[in-house]
Amino acid sequence: MNLKIALLGGDGVGPEVLAQAVKCLQSVEVTFNHHFTYTAAIVGAHAIEKTGDSLPDSTLAICKNSDAILFGAIGSPKYDNDPSAKVRPEQGLLKLRKELGLFSNIRPVRVYQSLIDRSPLKKEIISGVDFIIYRELTGGIYFGEKKLSEDGTVASDLCEYSEKEISRITHLAFKAAKSRSGKLTLIDKANVLESSRLWRKVVTRISASYPEVALNFLFIDNAAMQMILNPSQFDVILTSNMFGDIISDEASVIGGSIGLLASASIGADKAMFEPIHGSYPQAAGKNIANPIASILSAAMLLEHFGLDEEAQAIHLAVENAINNKVVTPDLNPKSNFGTNYVGDYIANSIVDTDEFLNLNDENIGLGKSTII
Ligand code: IPM
Ligand code: MN
Repeated sequence: MNLKIALLGGDGVGPEVLAQAVKCLQSVEVTFNHHFTYTAAIVGAHAIEKTGDSLPDSTLAICKNSDAILFGAIGSPKYDNDPSAKVRPEQGLLKLRKELGLFSNIRPVRVYQSLIDRSPLKKEIISGVDFIIYRELTGGIYFGEKKLSEDGTVASDLCEYSEKEISRITHLAFKAAKSRSGKLTLIDKANVLESSRLWRKVVTRISASYPEVALNFLFIDNAAMQMILNPSQFDVILTSNMFGDIISDEASVIGGSIGLLASASIGADKAMFEPIHGSYPQAAGKNIANPIASILSAAMLLEHFGLDEEAQAIHLAVENAINNKVVTPDLNPKSNFGTNYVGDYIANSIVDTDEFLNLNDENIGLGKSTII
């Protein structure tokens, strides 16, 4: 298959982790005989410094001209700590999602058995957790009208949803639930918010077309508690933009590191793939960031184009690295393995598992330091 892939590294550790995902895609090209072409473009704080714009027109054009986008991370402390900044890195990502119509953000959450002790939660609570969050991505409070009074003392953000916006992602979530264990949980705040009541109405109506899926509802405050008390109750979660943003960071704690969580943002004709973590500026350039979320985002890209065997090869290579403790310090504080080494290890093991395992067992045995 030929694919045109735009590479938007962005800020902080974004470019470093993205580079590891690209290595893995290149291994897939070689192993499975595909041809991917990559075009790099700037976005975020990095782009503001260069052009004054967090999403330059040239970057948007490259994305529109690609089959898929691999995204790194966005954000910089310089802007986080300055509420009066007129231009913000995050605007670039939000504009990209909106312009490309990426309404459905899919975030799988699972527990790797060999990392079970890394989670701050008890083993018996998290064992076997495997669910997917469907987060609406181009509507709601993120995109509603924003106001600030002239004297700067009153501000508001409108949370607006239309039936159309709710129903298109709802169908995707029901289809996913149908192909999994048949359970869909809508998370909202329908006891308070009018927009949540519209979600319930639309989702309930659509559920009639998916009789094999059991639909249930949770208020976001209760859901936040259930996520810690009993996360294995979830299979497919459907929720609005803001609730999905918050609950997915919370869910990342279950697996032991936010550095493991990948995501796909899907629209009618474009798709973008990115880790759910932020730009982690403290780690930028230190070769310590976990590349697995970015690598698994590349696997989601392959799945999106029906390349299931190829995606599976990435999953196996990631599991292999985790099982052999070839992981960054977030997953093993004693680890000397850096971002690059973990990326190489995973990419190489896609190409030739047997040969690679021998080679690296040797390195691991020698306790080779690979961070720098
Ligand atoms: C995410 C991020 C973004 C969001 C930020 C960087 C705008 O937190 O993808 O979860 O809030 O959607
Ligand atoms: Mn987030």
